[in-house]
Amino acid sequence: MTSDRDAEAGVPAAGSAEGTPAPPPDPRADDGSAPAIRCVQISKTFGSVKALDAVDLVLRRGTVHALVGENGSGKSTLTKIIAGAYAPDSGSVWIDGVELTHLTPRVAIEHGVRVIYQDLALFPNMTVAENIGFEGGRSVLGRVPRQRARAAAEEALGRLGSRIDPDIRLGDLSTAERQLVAIARAVSSEGDIILMDEPTAALTQDEIDSLLSSVRNLAATGVSFIFISHKLREVVEIADDVSVIRDGALIATGRASDFDTDRISYLMTGSHVVNVRRAHVPEPTGRPVLAARGISLGDTFADVSLDLHVGRVLGLSGLVGCGKTSIGLAIAGLIPVDSGEIRFRGERVDSMRGRPELQYVPDDRLTEGLFLDWSIAENVIPNDLRETRAGRDCRARRGNGSWPTPGAVAWPSRPPPSKRRSARCREATSSGCCWPARSRPRRWS
Ligand SMILES: Nc1ncnc2c1ncn2[C@@H]1O[C@H](COP(=O)(O)OP(=O)(O)O)[C@@H](O)[C@H]1O
Ligand SMILES: [Mg+2]
Repeated sequence: MTSDRDAEAGVPAAGSAEGTPAPPPDPRADDGSAPAIRCVQISKTFGSVKALDAVDLVLRRGTVHALVGENGSGKSTLTKIIAGAYAPDSGSVWIDGVELTHLTPRVAIEHGVRVIYQDLALFPNMTVAENIGFEGGRSVLGRVPRQRARAAAEEALGRLGSRIDPDIRLGDLSTAERQLVAIARAVSSEGDIILMDEPTAALTQDEIDSLLSSVRNLAATGVSFIFISHKLREVVEIADDVSVIRDGALIATGRASDFDTDRISYLMTGSHVVNVRRAHVPEPTGRPVLAARGISLGDTFADVSLDLHVGRVLGLSGLVGCGKTSIGLAIAGLIPVDSGEIRFRGERVDSMRGRPELQYVPDDRLTEGLFLDWSIAENVIPNDLRETRAGRDCRARRGNGSWPTPGAVAWPSRPPPSKRRSARCREATSSGCCWPARSRPRRWS
């Protein structure tokens, strides 16, 4: 699987499907230079979960290394260790041939490591140039110097082969364009090792193609990428090297040319994945338990009708921004509709909001579905805010004893007396039981 030259270049042999991969040999490139990143026998445990088990990884300079694995296999944990956000339990991280024993985020940044997380960490109210130039320092008034920022943005976007206007407000760009700005900011601040965690999850195919070509352009200039994805076609397309991890263990690593999508999916799952179609799907019987008839909301969605029958799963899919989340929120009664009706067990209802028969699990479970500073027991038990401490806190803060209702919540104009209390209140009202008016301007996708 791996040539002698590969071994010299420091790419460990791809293990057999079930076998243990060979440990990395001396990871020097052909020209004798050290790899951008070398992870040796990295292990990390969270409680009883072994997130990483003696994982080795070599990222060669100027290449794209795809890190693939199923959800929960340990990919993000490994990138966080490289970025200095988590300390490994054992093992070592080397950057450009130097072992970094106390790797903190600051040390990683000083060594050129930049992580681009899914939320991108950009400023929507600032221009593209200001976002890119932000890392280059600010004036005493906190402003990003305009000329310098613009020059930096033009240079960085040019390296990516992008034509985004540096003067445009970031909030007016598509998700794909914002990704490019995040990469431009990383390279503009002298990042030359870029870790991208699932960058294409929210992009259309055209946008993915454009992102992949920008990444390849940059790799050709010496920037090294760890590219996490579970979209196997793009992995095969973009990567120079591939590492597959499963349940925290490195299953295989080697040149991308040694992998195809079937092999990667086999290695990821440990079994051959076949597309199964159910031979027979019974026709729904009886009247639907829940139905929408011609519901519309502004320019978010129009004239949507659907029927959900008992014991069945109704799938609703579409690209980011197509309105599917809003349709779910509207059916659950968490946002209003302009027209149309909802029927429950055949009867027209004003709203399903607050009815125990319907429970809503939001797409962003971390910020909207859970009380992160509460115990698991406290999170699991309350389905009704009125039974929770946070709910009572919220009502007390509202001052008039009433419960928040969609679109009618008057949030205090002055900062609340206690930050902790206000954070809890915010979490409580965004938990899916109530809908905070403060988030109304957001366009639900
Ligand atoms: N901060 C954390 N605390 C507890 N468990 C965690 C934490 N981060 C990750 N894990 C667990 O470690 C495993 C690997 O997670 P992760 O690295 O996020 O996987 P991936 O990115 O491949 O989906 C999972 O079982 C996950 O639940
Ligand atoms: Mg992850």
